[in-house]
Amino acid sequence: MASASLLKSSPVLDKSDFVKGQPLLRQPAGAAAVHFQPISPSALTIRATSYAEELVKTAKTIASPGRGILAMDESNATCGKRLASIGLENTEANRQAYRTLLVSAPGLGQYISGAILFEETLYQSTVDGKKIVDLLVEQGIVPGIKTDKGLVPLAGSNNESWCQGLDGLASRSAAYYQQGARFAKWRTVVSIPNGPSALAVKEAAWGLARYAAISQDNGLVPIVEPEILLDGEHGIERTFEVAQKVWAEVFFYLAQNNVLFEGILLKPSMVTPGAESKVKATPEEVADYTLKLLKRRIPSAVPGIMFLSGGQSELEATLNLNAMNQAPNPWHVSFSYARALQNTCLKTWGGLPENVKAAQDALLLRAKSNSLAQLGKYTGEGESEEAKKELFVKGYSY
Ligand code: 13P
Repeated sequence: MASASLLKSSPVLDKSDFVKGQPLLRQPAGAAAVHFQPISPSALTIRATSYAEELVKTAKTIASPGRGILAMDESNATCGKRLASIGLENTEANRQAYRTLLVSAPGLGQYISGAILFEETLYQSTVDGKKIVDLLVEQGIVPGIKTDKGLVPLAGSNNESWCQGLDGLASRSAAYYQQGARFAKWRTVVSIPNGPSALAVKEAAWGLARYAAISQDNGLVPIVEPEILLDGEHGIERTFEVAQKVWAEVFFYLAQNNVLFEGILLKPSMVTPGAESKVKATPEEVADYTLKLLKRRIPSAVPGIMFLSGGQSELEATLNLNAMNQAPNPWHVSFSYARALQNTCLKTWGGLPENVKAAQDALLLRAKSNSLAQLGKYTGEGESEEAKKELFVKGYSY
């Protein structure tokens, strides 16, 4: 049952106001030029998702001390690029072998609280015939699912993109819940060199908010991910400025869509200089800017901030996270890395059965390092050269 204290109330929106795109909730007194109708108390609605309590519990479980998310939801096309980098063909059997290796790493659940899967993996078994979802649950890891349908060009913008997937999302989400998923990811992107245009930011924020509301209605905790791409020569100040704008809009629309903040997780980019900037930032600078952004924009009702790695090296992503956890934060500040958890593991495996154990050890080492970073206790000793390699790929698509 939904807990009354967690339910949100919101004014019903007048459709004509909405179509005109008027700001609806916070009108300055005496703003006569703006069309605004006072909202009577009887027009208040309560949005009650029957999953409210479960959503809050799931989000808290994922945001538990010393743990973070393993993003292993590469689409088949992206997974193909990963496999090609170690000379393997992009077949279902190879994807299954790789994902089996990841989820069966012994003791992974000590450091990993959630795993984001691509649809194929959610319905897949390990090479030994065990349901991957069941194996995750046995490891104490919450299964998640990528529900967005990827990026396409945004007409009317400056070569920017928007994220598809809202059509049919409710029924897909319900089916994923039945299959064992308890959280969902939707990744949209904002490009700094291409703008970002006001249109692209608004589209990204609105899409994320609709997805979040639909996910919650179907029992899935949404991970809200407006990735601000690393591409560009800009400095850290510019990233900070864009990130403030993006998160302001995201939370405006999340609130308009009556999303339960206690039942979401965020997946932001860290605030860094562009990948092609001549000026690099130290972990302390990245932490200062990123925490300043979060404190300005993210309500403390949100349980967890799970960063993406975005092309940072494995080591950089861990050091930056560690720097952010040197003092207590209002939210759990942790990781939801794909490349920065998997890179050395994938290279160590190389597609050879005899390397599975060494590859799992490499994954566990990264997971443990990031677990320590979540607790602010990472020292950086004993890192391999592979872990120091930058993973940025210009124009990277997921
Ligand atoms: P990276 O950590 O490789 O940027 O991937 C994050 C992501 O979006 C997957 O969910």
